[in-house]
Amino acid sequence: MVRSASPTLPRIRVLATGGTIAGAETKGARGYKAAAFSVDALIAAVPQVGELARLDVEQVAAIGSQDMDEATWRKLAARTSAALADADLAGVVITHGTDTMEETAFFLNLVVRSEKPVVLVGAMRPATAISADGPMNLFNAVAVAAHAEAHGRGVLVVANDEIHFAREIAKTNTTQVGTFRATARGLAGLVNAGRIHFYSAPVRKHTAQSEFSLDGGSALPRVDIIYAHVGTGRELIDAAVKAGARGLVIAGVGDGNLGATALAAAAEAAKSGVAVVRSSRTGGGVVERNIEIDDDRHGFIVADELNPQKARVLLMLGLTRTRDARELQEMFFTY
Ligand code: SIN
Repeated sequence: MVRSASPTLPRIRVLATGGTIAGAETKGARGYKAAAFSVDALIAAVPQVGELARLDVEQVAAIGSQDMDEATWRKLAARTSAALADADLAGVVITHGTDTMEETAFFLNLVVRSEKPVVLVGAMRPATAISADGPMNLFNAVAVAAHAEAHGRGVLVVANDEIHFAREIAKTNTTQVGTFRATARGLAGLVNAGRIHFYSAPVRKHTAQSEFSLDGGSALPRVDIIYAHVGTGRELIDAAVKAGARGLVIAGVGDGNLGATALAAAAEAAKSGVAVVRSSRTGGGVVERNIEIDDDRHGFIVADELNPQKARVLLMLGLTRTRDARELQEMFFTY
């Protein structure tokens, strides 16, 4: 039961989507089903949140985040924006599976126009596990969303006592509770049993300053990711273009590189009007223009610091505004 919250506490909306934070074990400690518990059950497990905020809740979806899709993204963006437009509401917490949390967080970072806090939270261990991490993560997420200093920092992710920026975070481990890392620019801050320490501000444009909007309502353009490896052929690039991809993100080797055969196919795709973004499969670092590959000649775009899955999010939104490679490149240096 949620402890009775004082009417002077900030109001926070909790939007639930499922994930392991709402998961239940099915075979002792060996297997589990994500999204088994409702948002009410999650909050009932952390009655202490009633000391931080007045919560109202909405179950937006009940899925493992591997099933996150554009329709649910749109619903989440709309429900988040509507909540934040309420002058009486201080912030939004979104419970979400960790697998694709970085993509949803970055998507919302680009389409929700508000300075108010939006905090995504998940867990690596299901709610019924020994030492489940969900309850403390949820408590900390509400603490961050209710905190005045969280304003203007874009969409945040809270897990394992850490606060991360949506743009910087990546899931880096299959099972460990410390899976989230921000290798390029570090943490936004720490949250220790609800006590918050912010260290830095976001470095790129986000939320209220973003140019992207979902108002048109038409489906986002198709963007596929091509994973490079020793001996990458051209078949998958050609197939993606044939399937109607308007954009390709190359998860390149090293500095976003591709072998000659695949490079020729990517160059042909770019020539035919498909936006081709070079990112890296390494998990860290900057992909710069014109180092080993002549981006100017091929009409390629570089992902800067974005990993392939985040580059895909930005490219989908960018393509709703322009197909010009130079303008798209500018977006990768801006967001
Ligand atoms: C999921 O992403 O829904 C499953 C994994 C997790 O939440 O940790």
